[in-house]
Amino acid sequence: MANNPLSRRQFIQLGSGAIAASTVAKNILEPRVLSATPRRVAPSDTIRFASIGTGIRGCEHLQASLDVPGVECVAICDLYDSRHVAGQEAVKNPGAPACRDYRSILDRKDVDSVLIATMDHQHRRIFEDACAAGKDVYCEKPMSHTVEDGFSMVDTAHKYNRMVAVGSQRVSSILYAKAKEIYDSGKLGEVFSINAYWDRNSPSGAWVYPIPPDASTQTIDWNAFLGNAPKREFDPVRFFRWRCFTDYGEGLGGDLFVHLLSGIHFITSTNQPALRAQSSGGLFHFKDGREFPDLIETLYDYPNFRLTLRCNLNNNGGEFIGFYGTKGTMIIKDSTLSYRPEDTRPEPEGYSIFGWPKALRDQYLQKWNEEHPDPKPLNWKVDEEVETYTVAHGYSDTADHQANFYNAVRTRKPVVENEVFGNYTSIGCHLANFSYSNKCVAVWDPSAKKIVKG
Ligand SMILES: NC(=O)c1ccc[n+]([C@@H]2O[C@H](COP(=O)([O-])OP(=O)(O)OC[C@H]3O[C@@H](n4cnc5c(N)ncnc54)[C@H](O)[C@@H]3O)[C@@H](O)[C@H]2O)c1
Repeated sequence: MANNPLSRRQFIQLGSGAIAASTVAKNILEPRVLSATPRRVAPSDTIRFASIGTGIRGCEHLQASLDVPGVECVAICDLYDSRHVAGQEAVKNPGAPACRDYRSILDRKDVDSVLIATMDHQHRRIFEDACAAGKDVYCEKPMSHTVEDGFSMVDTAHKYNRMVAVGSQRVSSILYAKAKEIYDSGKLGEVFSINAYWDRNSPSGAWVYPIPPDASTQTIDWNAFLGNAPKREFDPVRFFRWRCFTDYGEGLGGDLFVHLLSGIHFITSTNQPALRAQSSGGLFHFKDGREFPDLIETLYDYPNFRLTLRCNLNNNGGEFIGFYGTKGTMIIKDSTLSYRPEDTRPEPEGYSIFGWPKALRDQYLQKWNEEHPDPKPLNWKVDEEVETYTVAHGYSDTADHQANFYNAVRTRKPVVENEVFGNYTSIGCHLANFSYSNKCVAVWDPSAKKIVKG
């Protein structure tokens, strides 16, 4: 975790020819100044936030908040008592007030905003109660558990005029800002094809998390966890591995697709859900009672491009997004960004003329060369034009995403990944799951605000 993520040079241009496997060190770029750039904040401008849900992600947030200027965590809330301590430790404040019931936090006048990092099925209720209480909301991704939840959350945020950020932090990453700059520059030409995947190959990657030894109905408010989900006996597997179950999560769609979709929507300035989606996949390895596949592949139709997404929990391919344009290719692979142009200058036909007699071939080539003076085709080396970037070790896009949100809280200017953006990318994950579970094409009906069978 970076202590001061923007105080150092952040983009490192690795050098030319990186895609061609040569990584000659070249330039170190100066940091770009993003709206999230840490700066001094007057004490009177300090934003006081409460963290609701201090499990894995909540603790990551609390730790990252220490790198965000002008914010202070004033309350911690979780249904599981050990996570009060985990949250206090993460924010390095053993005295931070902690509670189980988030409503007691919403009653506090000194809380400006809340950070919701609960299981997905809890997002809507806490989000809407927080908006009604006049708090601004940072809500983890995926924003919604159902399509209906998402539209209700958008309406509520607008009704109470709240600032909202949804938590796919890549949208605030300096690497993705650079990717967007390249995309917007036109250097890729027209991009009709985008391909992305996120593959992991471990029990942890498949959410087979250990159950802490103190988990019980004494230490966990089980009924509050269930919320509106069907009533059940206490089951710690459901509590700690909730992503595997349809009542609380959305499987790989909600966990990983939504990150890829958010990055792609941001870079391509897409402001609508896909028109339709078709999924394939299966549960091949992690047959532990889960209700979602461990491999899912989805084809999405957008108005101007086609997108294929894959998440595979049975191979460690990492994270990848490829933009394939008529003038170049841009790849984000984990924390490296590469751009490689195509040589689109005219060149003489070199294939079909081998079926011509030599005399005709020579005649064609001579005429072509007369009509196309210098520069001679293929003299130009594509590899010399390859650009490659990465971020400095310790860079935190989570801190940048938080900082963007707190800037919005101060300025009342919405962030990019606001409630509308978050709703559309969540719909993308619901489309994928609808298609997979109903074995059909999932069509987005914007007027009915529903997914229908295609
Ligand atoms: N942006 C990212 O990179 C990223 C990474 C991980 C998780 N997430 C998202 O963060 C959220 C939490 O995921 P996690 O891995 O931290 O899960 P987790 O199970 O580790 O933690 C969730 C916590 O929320 C608490 N909780 C649930 N309902 C509550 C309520 N009504 N009031 C108070 N606390 C409540 C639970 O007690 C639990 O401790 C999910 O939406 C997930 O998709 C985002």
